[in-house]
Amino acid sequence: MPRPWRDAWQDALYGPAGFFIHSRPTDHFRTSVTSSDVFAAAIAQLVREAGLTAVVDLGAGGGELLARLHDIDPTLRLTGVEVAGRPDLPDDIVWTDELPTTVDGLLIAHEWLDNIPCDVVEVDDDGVVRLVEVDPDSGVEQLGGPVESDWLDRWWPLDEPGTRAEIGAPRDDAWADAVGRVHGIALAVDYGHLADARPPFGTLTSFAHGQEVDVVPDGSRDVTAHVAVDAVAARTGATLVRQRDALAELGVDGTRPSLDLATADPPAYVAALARASESAELRARGGWGDFWWLTTDTRVGD
Ligand SMILES: C[S@@+](CC[C@H](N)C(=O)[O-])C[C@H]1O[C@@H](n2cnc3c(N)ncnc32)[C@H](O)[C@@H]1O
Repeated sequence: MPRPWRDAWQDALYGPAGFFIHSRPTDHFRTSVTSSDVFAAAIAQLVREAGLTAVVDLGAGGGELLARLHDIDPTLRLTGVEVAGRPDLPDDIVWTDELPTTVDGLLIAHEWLDNIPCDVVEVDDDGVVRLVEVDPDSGVEQLGGPVESDWLDRWWPLDEPGTRAEIGAPRDDAWADAVGRVHGIALAVDYGHLADARPPFGTLTSFAHGQEVDVVPDGSRDVTAHVAVDAVAARTGATLVRQRDALAELGVDGTRPSLDLATADPPAYVAALARASESAELRARGGWGDFWWLTTDTRVGD
């Protein structure tokens, strides 16, 4: 039975048989957070520089970032917010399914916004913007009723027949709600697009077991769409910086170690080479380096 994409997507990820309720992200894809220790070390550096002592990870997955932060600095107060159950983590890391009312420290949401379900719309042959409905079992789509949306008019206007968009208003609302709870820094990291380069056919995508697969909201696979990051930033007063630049500011360096080190201290050279390669992956063009960091320091003006 076809349903609006937003409803089908919500059930597919977070319903009783939802993808994220029954499987861990690491079973299906790698992220900057899970690939190595380098991202966590950069976050620890950011926390230190900002004079913060607590980190709340919203959409914490399997707790990989928190576990690494705990190793780096066991004095940090760490909380994972996640709809899935608690993984095996040190006892002093708090695990909850509800974002706390107040966050005093760093709130980080890494690849969280892209998993917030949205309405999907498409322009029909007469130029009318219509809701896209989907059969959750097969992924077969049909066009539903006409849609009027201030968000679309402002952030993603459509007119060409066949073009599509994801209405990002629920992401703006969700991040505004989260940022409103923070005394410290709120940081969302995600893949996204800006008004001058919206993808003409939207970006709905599915992943399962390490591969891109057909987009079907049946609970067996991830369903994600890139984030209209300029809309979220405007709503939350965030600065927008590419990950490669944000990490460079935090000292993440992807250049190869000197060959002199290879002769002087071979094990140190091998370790430095591995670190450089992990760092380069996080800063790569066409890869994770293109991700956006949306940063709001809510203490400004205190
Ligand atoms: C793509 S995964 C990212 C996991 C991890 N942050 C990473 O980057 O590797 C998104 C995670 O957000 C979680 N999630 C989505 N909405 C949530 C919510 N409202 N509250 C708690 N967790 C949520 C999902 O269950 C999933 O584990």
